[in-house]
Amino acid sequence: MYSAKVMDHFTKPRNVGEIDNANGIGTVGNARCGDIMKVYVYIEDEQIVDVKFKTFGCAAAIATSSMATELVKGKSVDEALDITNKAVADALDGLPPLKMHCSALAEQAIKAAIEDYKEKKDDINIDK
Ligand code: FES
Repeated sequence: MYSAKVMDHFTKPRNVGEIDNANGIGTVGNARCGDIMKVYVYIEDEQIVDVKFKTFGCAAAIATSSMATELVKGKSVDEALDITNKAVADALDGLPPLKMHCSALAEQAIKAAIEDYKEKKDDINIDK
């Protein structure tokens, strides 16, 4: 049912954990299945220097979190915002159609973390 890459990222997920000094945090959930994903980013000069995640969810949710964090690490904020859940699924050699919604969670969590970073940055600029 799952590709070898999905199984690899599910059993050995990359970038699991938290970032203590994260300057962006995004949490998203899927109301239907109850799965939750939290992404931490540390951004410097508009570049994603570090990214970590914690996911309470199915195998596809964990594998897509792992792959999504790998794809955005080192990228610029704009490049990271362009990464779609389809790109994440493709990088995993595909997902069963019924599991595509799980990859949407990974895309949304990364975007939410970047939005949080942008909001915090704007607040700092307003305070100046
Ligand atoms: Fe909930 Fe996969 S079944 S994210």
